[in-house]
Amino acid sequence: MKRTWWKEAVVYQVYWRSFYDSSGDGVGDLRGVIEKLDYIEKLGVNVVWLNPFYESPDRDNGYDISDYYSVMEKAGTMEDFEELLDEAHKRGLKVILDLVVNHTSDQHEWFLESKSSIDNPKRDWYIWRDPVNGSEPNNWRSYFTPSTWEYDVGTGQYYFHSFAVEQPDLNWENEEVREAIYDMMRFWLDKGIDGFRMDVINLLAKIDGFPNAENPEYTDYLANNPGIHDYLKEMNEKVLRHYDILTVGEIPFVTPEEGLKYVAEDRNELKTLFHFEVADDMPSWDMVRYKEIQEKWHKAFYGKGWNSQFLNNHDHTRQVSRYGNDNRYRKESSKLLATMIHTLPGIPYVFQGEEIGMTGVRFDTIEDYNDIAMKNKYREEVEKGRNPVEVFESLLPLSRDNSRTPIQWDETEQAGFTEGEPWINVNPNYKMINVKRELSEEDSIFSYYKDLIALRKEHPVMIYGDYTDLSKGQEKLYVYTRQFEGTRWLIILNCSDDHTIFDIDVTIDESNERLILANYNDVSDKDVLKNTSLRPHEARIYEIAL
Ligand code: GLC
Repeated sequence: MKRTWWKEAVVYQVYWRSFYDSSGDGVGDLRGVIEKLDYIEKLGVNVVWLNPFYESPDRDNGYDISDYYSVMEKAGTMEDFEELLDEAHKRGLKVILDLVVNHTSDQHEWFLESKSSIDNPKRDWYIWRDPVNGSEPNNWRSYFTPSTWEYDVGTGQYYFHSFAVEQPDLNWENEEVREAIYDMMRFWLDKGIDGFRMDVINLLAKIDGFPNAENPEYTDYLANNPGIHDYLKEMNEKVLRHYDILTVGEIPFVTPEEGLKYVAEDRNELKTLFHFEVADDMPSWDMVRYKEIQEKWHKAFYGKGWNSQFLNNHDHTRQVSRYGNDNRYRKESSKLLATMIHTLPGIPYVFQGEEIGMTGVRFDTIEDYNDIAMKNKYREEVEKGRNPVEVFESLLPLSRDNSRTPIQWDETEQAGFTEGEPWINVNPNYKMINVKRELSEEDSIFSYYKDLIALRKEHPVMIYGDYTDLSKGQEKLYVYTRQFEGTRWLIILNCSDDHTIFDIDVTIDESNERLILANYNDVSDKDVLKNTSLRPHEARIYEIAL
C-alpha cells in the first residue's frame, strides 16, 4: 500500500471542555488547549482531534450545532481557534475537527425556519412526515429516546431525529442541504485544518418510506442505508479530494465487508473509520472475541483499506476500567492496552487522560451526571416504573461521563483543571493519578506511551506490517507478529490478572531476538521466552529473525 502521512499518524483526542480551563469558568477551552500544547507535543503524537466547539446550546456537549461558522462562547473565539491551529502547526501537530452533519441543533436557524411553516423554503431541509393513524410515522427508536419522531404542534407533522429531540436530522436528499454542508466544510479546510472526524457519517441516508422495524430496539436500520455511498462519493468529489487530509468516519453497525466500502482506496470516499464491534458490542474484556474481531477486519482490509484502533473515547468508559484492571494492576494494564493498540494494524487513537491511566468514575446521584444519553435512559426506565436506584446502578458502568471527567493535572484542588467550579466533578482519585506525578516518574504510563509513539516513527513495521495472530482461541495470551520488509516483530501480551505460561508455538532463534519494549522493567534480550511465566498484564515487544 502507498505510504502516506495519515497512515503514520497517532491521533490524540482532545475533549476540550475537560482538558484545561484557562478562564476559570469551570469549562475547559481552546486557550486551555493552547496552553497545554507542549504537553501534547511531549507525548509525540502528530494529530490532534478536537471535539465540536461550534456554537451550540450544548445539550449533547457540542454535538447539537446551532451555527457551524462560529465558536461557542464556552470554548472561546474564532481567534482562539486560529491561534490554536497555528501553534499546533508550529509544533508539527496536525488538527482535525469533528464534522457533525447528520443533524443540527433544533436551535439552528435552518431548523427554526424549517419548523416555521409547511411551505417555508427550508421545510425540506429536515425530515418531516404526517402522523400515521394519529401517531408516530413508524416504530423506530432513536439512540437517545424511545422514538425517532417528535411532534410539532405548530405544523401538525413529526420531524425525524436519530439522537435527542434537540438534534433534528438533516435531509441529505435535498441538494441545497448538501451544498450548504460542503460550503461549510470548505470554510474550515481553507482555514488550514488537516481533516475531519465525521460524526455518525453512515447515518446520512435513510431507508425509503420509513417502514416499521421488526425489532425496533436494535437500531441498525438507522445506518448504512442505500444512497450513503453516493453522498460520500459526492462529498469526496466536491470537497475532500481537493485537500491532503485525514478523514475518519464514525461508522456504527458495520461489518468489515461493508466497512471497506467506506474506505477502500479505489473508492474515493473516506480514508479510515471507527467501527464499534469492540466499543459498542463488547461490554467487558473477551480476549477470544477481540482476536476474532481483529482477524476479520485485518483480512478484509489488508492491502485495500486502512483501519483505526481505539478502546475508548468521549462516548466510551475509560479503557483501563472497562477492559483492564484499574486497581491492583492499573499501571501494567494501562501499558499493556497501549502496547496492543499501538502495535495492531491501523491508526492508534489516544483519548486524553488515557496516557496517565485515568479511570472511570462513580458519582453518588444522577444529578452528578451530565450525559444526555444516560439521563434520558434513566428517565425512560424510571417512568416505566423501575426502581430508580437499580436503574441508576445499571447505568453507571457505561455512562459516557466516565471518560468526560476533567484531566487530572496535579494534586491541587480540582486537580489543577480549573480555578472555578468544574462543569463535571473531577475524579476523586486525582491525588494519586495526575499528570504532574506521571511526568516526574521514570517508569510512568506517560513515559511508556511516549516510548511506544516514538517507536512508530522509527519502525515502519508498526504501521505497514502484515499481521498474524499466533494465539487464536487462547483466553489470556495474545501473541502476534507484524512483518515488513525484512523485519519481524513479536508482540506478547498477557491480558489477565494471572501468571501465564508462554507456550505459543513460534520458532524463535533466541540468540537473535531483541527486546524492543516491555512494561515490566526487569526484562532483557537475554531472557528465554519459551515457557516463561508472564506476569499479570505483562507486555513485551521483540524483534525476531524472519
Ligand atoms: C456521536 C458522538 C456522540 C454524540 C452523537 C450524536 O456518536 O460521538 O458524542 O452524542 O454522535 O452527535
